[in-house]
Amino acid sequence: MHSLYARFNNFSAFLSSCLMGVLAAVALSSFMFTAAPSGELSLASIKVFPGNSRRLPNVKQEFAFVNFNISADLTPLFHWNTKQLFLYLQAEYVDSKGVQNDVVIWDSIVRRKEDAVIDVMGRNKYVFRDLSRSFRKARPANYSLRYNLMPYVGVLTYGEAARTSEAVLFPDPETVS
Ligand SMILES: *[C@@H]1O[C@H](CO)[C@@H](O)[C@H](O)[C@H]1NC(C)=O
Ligand SMILES: *[C@@H]1O[C@H](CO)[C@@H](O)[C@H](O)[C@H]1NC(C)=O
Repeated sequence: MHSLYARFNNFSAFLSSCLMGVLAAVALSSFMFTAAPSGELSLASIKVFPGNSRRLPNVKQEFAFVNFNISADLTPLFHWNTKQLFLYLQAEYVDSKGVQNDVVIWDSIVRRKEDAVIDVMGRNKYVFRDLSRSFRKARPANYSLRYNLMPYVGVLTYGEAARTSEAVLFPDPETVS
C-alpha cells in the first residue's frame, strides 16, 4: 500500500514536471513572435478648466480635458497564447516642479482578435489634474497608447502601439463665467 502510494506520487511528480516543461515552452515561444502593432494617435483638442477640488472645496484646481483620436491595428498581438490586451492612453509630461508624470487618462480591454482593429474618438475617462493643481508651467506633454498583453501562460508583456508625433502644450485655463 505504501509503495503504491509512493509510486503514484512519483508518477504525478513526473507528470507535473512534464506539464511545467510544456508550459515553459509555451511561455517562451510567445517571445518568438515579434509583434509590431501599428497605430496612430492624435489629439483633437485639449482644454483646461479651473474648478474646485472635490475634497477641499475651498481649494482651486485645474482639470484638463483631452479629446483624442486613436486608430490602431492590434491584431498582430493576438496569437494562441494571448488571453487579452489591456490598452491605455498615457500622458507624459514634466510639471511645474520638474517632476516627470505618467498619467493614465483612458483605458480599454480587447478580448478578441476580431475587435483588435480600433478606431476611437474619445475623451479622457479619468480625471486629469496635476498634483501642483495647475498646468500653467507644465512642459508640453507626449501622449502614448500602450498595452499589456496578458497571456494564458507566462508573464505579462508591455509595449507601445502609438504615440503623438509631437509634444502638445497645455493651454491656458478657460475663463468660466
Ligand atoms: C482619426 O485618425 C485617422 C487616422 O489618422 C484619420 O483617418 C481620421 O480622419 C481621424 N479622424 C478625425 C475625426 O480626426
Ligand atoms: C516628448 O517627446 C520628445 C520627442 O520624442 C522628447 O524629446 C521629450 O523629452 C518628450 N517629453 C516628455 C515629457 O516625455
